[in-house]
Amino acid sequence: MASARLPVAVLASGSGSNLQALLDASARYDFGASIVAVISDRPGARALERAASAGVPTEIVDWADYADRISFTNAICDAATRSGAEVLVLAGFMRVLSPVAIERFPNQILNIHPGLLPAFPGERAVADALEFGVKLTGVTVHFVDEKVDHGPIIYQEVVRVHPGDTVRDLHTRIQEVEHRVYPEVLDALAHGRLRVEGRQVHWEHG
Ligand code: GRF
Repeated sequence: MASARLPVAVLASGSGSNLQALLDASARYDFGASIVAVISDRPGARALERAASAGVPTEIVDWADYADRISFTNAICDAATRSGAEVLVLAGFMRVLSPVAIERFPNQILNIHPGLLPAFPGERAVADALEFGVKLTGVTVHFVDEKVDHGPIIYQEVVRVHPGDTVRDLHTRIQEVEHRVYPEVLDALAHGRLRVEGRQVHWEHG
């Protein structure tokens, strides 16, 4: 008999291509996580359509409806808790959560970043890397802590910058990697294969 899957809420603000990769993975019989909710801060997000197409419940927590970051964050966490989620997966979620989220979901919030942290944190990571002239950039999956793009790193993979790359070219190749690795990391977390000791994350391959 299959063991229970880890219930997960995905937080997304935009196109949701990473969400789609996670939805596709969760359709596989042996995937360890189940996406029980998709929560967005943007009513028009394409991610919400992807969730609806997959039959996953959606919830909008509109930033404009909250007085401050703490009440917004609590509303996000409340929505996740109501759905039964034990883990939050940030997939192109463009709001910074208050530390109250880390108190409520300790070592249970994942983020994916289109760069090799700690280089080029923030929303313009791909453009910043190109402008700096790096030859190698990549993908980082990490646990979320109190600081932006800072928490313990779970996995990184290099993506080479090609001569003449535009931001779009480079981001497209980065996203191909993201779509492969994010489901792998979530599956590892769900199967209890990630052990966290301070900033060190050990991935025990089963
Ligand atoms: C991804 O490149 C991710 O690394 C960053 O935001 C982007 C989201 O893309 N955090 P999508 O909405 O999953 O297509």
